Amino acid sequence: MSNEIRVFCPATVANISCGFDVLGLALETVGDGMVVRKTTHPGIRITKVVGQELPLEAEKNVAGVAGLALLENLGYQEGFEIEIHKKIKPGSGIGSSAASAAGAVWAINYLLDTPLNRTELVNLAMQGEKLASNVAHADNVAPAIFGGFTLVRSYHPLDIVSIPAPKALYATVIHPQIEIKTADSRKILKTNITLAQGIQQWGNLGGLVAGLYTHDYELIGRSLEDHIVEPIRSILIPEFKTVKEEVKKAGALGSGISGSGPSIFALSKGEKTAQRVAQTMKDIYETTGLDFDIHVSPIGTEGVKLI
Ligand code: HSE
Repeated sequence: MSNEIRVFCPATVANISCGFDVLGLALETVGDGMVVRKTTHPGIRITKVVGQELPLEAEKNVAGVAGLALLENLGYQEGFEIEIHKKIKPGSGIGSSAASAAGAVWAINYLLDTPLNRTELVNLAMQGEKLASNVAHADNVAPAIFGGFTLVRSYHPLDIVSIPAPKALYATVIHPQIEIKTADSRKILKTNITLAQGIQQWGNLGGLVAGLYTHDYELIGRSLEDHIVEPIRSILIPEFKTVKEEVKKAGALGSGISGSGPSIFALSKGEKTAQRVAQTMKDIYETTGLDFDIHVSPIGTEGVKLI
C-alpha cells in the first residue's frame, strides 16, 4: 500500500430545494484536489493550500479538524500531511468546506486500509462542517463521501440513504462571485414552521425521491419547491427570481438555491438542455456586472475518489 494518495473531492449541492439539511448531490466534474501522505509525526499537518487563503493550523482548517477527529476516533498514534488544491471557493454554496472535510477523512481512512465505513466517515467529516458553519450538518459531506444523491434520514443516530439518480440528469450551477457564509445565512432563518408548510415540504421531498427512483423527470421538476428557506435566503441572491423563471423556459426541470447560496442550481434532463440553461443563466448575469462561474455537470456517482 502506498503512503501517499491524490484524491478528487467533489463539489456538492445541498438541500436541493425541498430537503433542507437532509438532501444533497455530488457533482462529477467540479471539485478540489488533495494529496494526503502518512508520516511518523503525530497529528495532522496542512503543508500547503493552493488556490485560496485558508489557515494552515490543523485546528483551524476544516480538513485538519476532520482528520484530527478521525485520528482520535481510531486512537492512531502517528500522523498525516495534507496538501489542498482548492478549486471550490469558500462561501460559494457548493460545499467547499465539505469537500475538504470529506477528502481528508476519506483519504486517511484509505491509507489506513479502510477501518471505517462511509457513514462513520460522514460523522467525522461533520466536525469540519461544524468548524466552518457552527452546525454539524451532513447534507454536503454525505454526497461528497457516498456520491450521487443522499438523504440524511436521521442525524441521531446518523443514517445516510443513497438514492439512485437517472443517468441523464444534469446539474447546472451558477456561482455569482459574492460570498455568503453558511453561518450567516442560517442566522436569518426562522426556527419554526407551520404544519401547512411541513405538509408541503415533506410532500415535495417524497415526490423528489420517488421521481429519482422511477426516472419520472416531470415529478422531479414538480418537487423542486421550497416555501420555507428559499423565500428568505433568495433575497441575498441577485436576479434569483429571473433565473428561476427563465431556466424553466429554457427547459430545466426546476431550480433553487444551492446549499446556503449564493450559487443557484438547476436540474435538467440531458446535457444539451443543461448547457442551454447555463447560457440562460449567463445571459441574465451578464446584465448585472457581477463576475460569476458556471458549471454543467452530470451527477457524480462516486464521491471522493483516487486520481
Ligand atoms: N443545509 C445547509 C444549509 C447546507 O442550507 O445551511 C449548507 O451548504
